[in-house]
Formats: sequence, C-alpha cells, structure tokens
Amino acid sequence: MPPTIRRAVIPAAGLGSRLLPLTKATPKEMLPVGDKPVVEHTVRELVDSGITDITIVVSGGKSLIQDHFRPNPALVRQLREDGKVAYADAVEEVAELARRGHITYLDQHGPYGNGTPVLNAARSFGDEPVLVLWPDDVFVAEVPRAQQLIRAYEQTGCPVLALLPMDPADSRRYGVPVVKEDLGDGMLRITGLVEKPEPEAAPSAYAAIGGYVVTPGIVDELREQTRLWYEAERRGGPAGEVYLTDALNAYAAHHAVYGQVIRGEWYDTGNPADYLVAQMAHALAHPEYGPVLRELVRRIDG
Ligand code: G1P
Repeated sequence: MPPTIRRAVIPAAGLGSRLLPLTKATPKEMLPVGDKPVVEHTVRELVDSGITDITIVVSGGKSLIQDHFRPNPALVRQLREDGKVAYADAVEEVAELARRGHITYLDQHGPYGNGTPVLNAARSFGDEPVLVLWPDDVFVAEVPRAQQLIRAYEQTGCPVLALLPMDPADSRRYGVPVVKEDLGDGMLRITGLVEKPEPEAAPSAYAAIGGYVVTPGIVDELREQTRLWYEAERRGGPAGEVYLTDALNAYAAHHAVYGQVIRGEWYDTGNPADYLVAQMAHALAHPEYGPVLRELVRRIDG
C-alpha cells in the first residue's frame, strides 16, 4: 500500500493579471468568496482531507496571505475585552486552522511557469507524494476534492489529475486529457494532457481542474525541464516556461497516470466573470445570505 498523502503545495506566486486592477494591491488568493478568502477555502479543503503539512509558495506582494493566517493574540484579547466573543473565536479559529495544516511559506525562485513552485517545495518532500491545488478555485463537495484525489492515489500508487466533464466548446481554457481506459467510478487511465486545444482537436470531453497528486517521478521530470530551461537561457535561446503539464506528459510517456473525475461543484475565481459566479453560488447556498440574495433578485426582476 503506498503511503497516504500528508503534504500539499499551494502555488500562490502568480500575478493575478486576469483580475487586474483588482489584484494590483490585493493578492488574488485573498479575494473573498463568501466570508473567507479563496486561499482559506483551499486550506480548509486540505486540512479536512487530513493534510498536515501545507507549503504556500509566494512572491513579493503576497504578505496579506501570511497576515491572514498568523495568530494575533493582541486583537483576540481586545475583542474579548470588548465582549465581541464570536469575532474573537472566528479570528482564533483561522489561526488554529493554519496550525493544524502546519502552513509554511516559501519564496518562489527560478523560471516562470506553474512547475517551478512545485519543484521549489519538493526540496522538503523527500520521496513522498504531494497534493498540488491551485489557489484560485473553490470546490463544493460532500467529500472534499483533495480527499477524492488521495483515495485515487491510494488505489493506484500513481500520479492523479482532478478532472471534470467539460463542454467541448470550452476546451481552449483547459488542459484536456488523452483517455486510454475508463476504469469505472470516475477513474480514467490517461496517457497525457493537451493544453488548451481547439474544440475539434480536444482528445476527450474532460478538463483538468487544478488538482494534482504529484509523485517523485514527476518532480524528476520538473528538475530535468528546469535544467533544460537554464541551458536554453545560457545559449540565449527562447527558454519558455516550466509547466506541470509538460512534466506530466514526459512522465506519462513511460509510466501510468490516472485522472479522477471529481464529484462536486467547481468554481474558478481566476477571471472576473467566473469569480462573480463563484461569489453568487456561494452566497445562494449560504443559510443566512441565500434567502437575502434570492429576495433581492426577486425584487430587481419583479
Ligand atoms: C492550468 C493548467 C490547465 C488546467 C487549468 C485549470 O492552466 O495548465 O491544464 O486546465 O489550470 O484551472 P491556467 O488556467 O493556469 O492557464
């Protein structure tokens, strides 16, 4: 039985350019969905799935993430003195969440691309598999997405990608897996991932949705790509970026890789329209805010 997964990486060094100017001073990971910043939803998902070591890979301008999760005893004391018990408890609970997830922060360094934060964090993994979740999406599911991925890894001992059924017209927005075999229960054997194909070239009707079980073999491929990147840069040629997808494809050429179709609702928050949808969906599902929002819509529509 392969070891169960304890570690996770959240790449949070991106510029959030699709949300500018909103993200000029506020990291996209700190934008609220409901009453929590997006990254807190991700951390909760991980902690609820039994993850005990979370590395958030950051860059300059991201210190609000650290501020959010850092304990603030002076604020809590003040709130308690003022009789604001519920607020004090809420502030303490976030710090407790961070403690349970043993959040550590790492400054991203190296080539551009979403493979670099994973390689940066990998220095401390040893030979352990690790979950990688993007910080700009929210999953609403009975069994957290992270837990569904961990289960798939426990069954296969191989890298796993989180997938959702996709409208083929949307293929230009996603990595689309090449499916070799449907093993039932949402598990697919895949032979690679085509990034953002035209609809007529999409190899399947599934989208990769930013959740990965990365194994040491994938990390080796990232290391190799990074080596090639520096070599190309030294020669003055176009070095490109180091992508997780390229490492997965290189690995999948010789090893088994799986996709797990996730049960649940996925909300992307990385662009303005989807972010708005994520906020609305979250508010509508909330026991207190849902009825208020429905009443507002009725009034405006009526
Ligand atoms: C990344 C991945 C892509 C995936 C997408 C999901 O792309 O490369 O395979 O479908 O995340 O959000 P990005 O959106 O960063 O361009």
